[in-house]
Amino acid sequence: MEIDKKAFLDSLGGPEAAGRMDSEARADALESHMMDQLNRAKTGDPAWDKPKLEKYPTVAEVEQQIETRKYREGVGFMYVPRTGENVRRLPPMPAKPTLYDFFKLRFMDTSNHVLQSAALAMKNGMSEEIILACLLHDVVQEIIRTDHGWWGAQLFEPYVPEKVSFAIRYHQALRYYPDPSVGYEYPDLYRQLFGADYVPPPYIEATYQMVRKHSWYMDARLVTVNDLYAFDPDAVVTIDPFIDIIGRHFKQPKEGLGNDGSPVAHMWRTIARPDQPL
Ligand SMILES: [Fe+2]
Ligand SMILES: [Fe+2]
Repeated sequence: MEIDKKAFLDSLGGPEAAGRMDSEARADALESHMMDQLNRAKTGDPAWDKPKLEKYPTVAEVEQQIETRKYREGVGFMYVPRTGENVRRLPPMPAKPTLYDFFKLRFMDTSNHVLQSAALAMKNGMSEEIILACLLHDVVQEIIRTDHGWWGAQLFEPYVPEKVSFAIRYHQALRYYPDPSVGYEYPDLYRQLFGADYVPPPYIEATYQMVRKHSWYMDARLVTVNDLYAFDPDAVVTIDPFIDIIGRHFKQPKEGLGNDGSPVAHMWRTIARPDQPL
């Protein structure tokens, strides 16, 4: 990784202030600066941060990109860094990890995006269930991106109200279909990601038709409305404003996520211990 020396020294308060630090403190500061840079590079990379294009590719051109990559698009962000850098050793998890611990220690590539979405939902006066759905809607993309609505709903189903997992599951299908009644338009980003002439597959169309008639349609729709389709690098977001909502609506297992013997405990362990070979 290239270090911008001036930016690094500025972050310490200038060359003079840096000169007053002992070598140990400077080395620590350099390491944290590099991690910060890496996180910026990484969080800047996910799909929702693609630069706006003048001309969108066709579906055929998107297909041609497949063989230019060292990874398949469906693999999760924590498993294959899109920067081409090596993966980093992860901090250990506590013995009984909570959702908060996963946000702090594992959801490195997705947390900024979902925190921004949840913050927008809160600003827009959404219900606590919608805010929670926004907070959780994409974090499963740490391990898998393909069909992430379904995977994400499954990951959270044992721990959240049914309406929240419903909204997470179906936000994926609804995002392809505009709803002018709430000002939701087809995202430009998808013209870039899927191709300008993309037509969603039949299972997505069928899911949309089903959800459209469902009494909880608007719950899933509001996740797409408060979703962010562009990354704001300047947004300062933390999980703190959502701690109470998590406390009220997320059933934290006392053994810790991954240790509770639930049907999805292995998914939490997969996030907690991604360096296990088998
Ligand atoms: Fe999503
Ligand atoms: Fe999203």
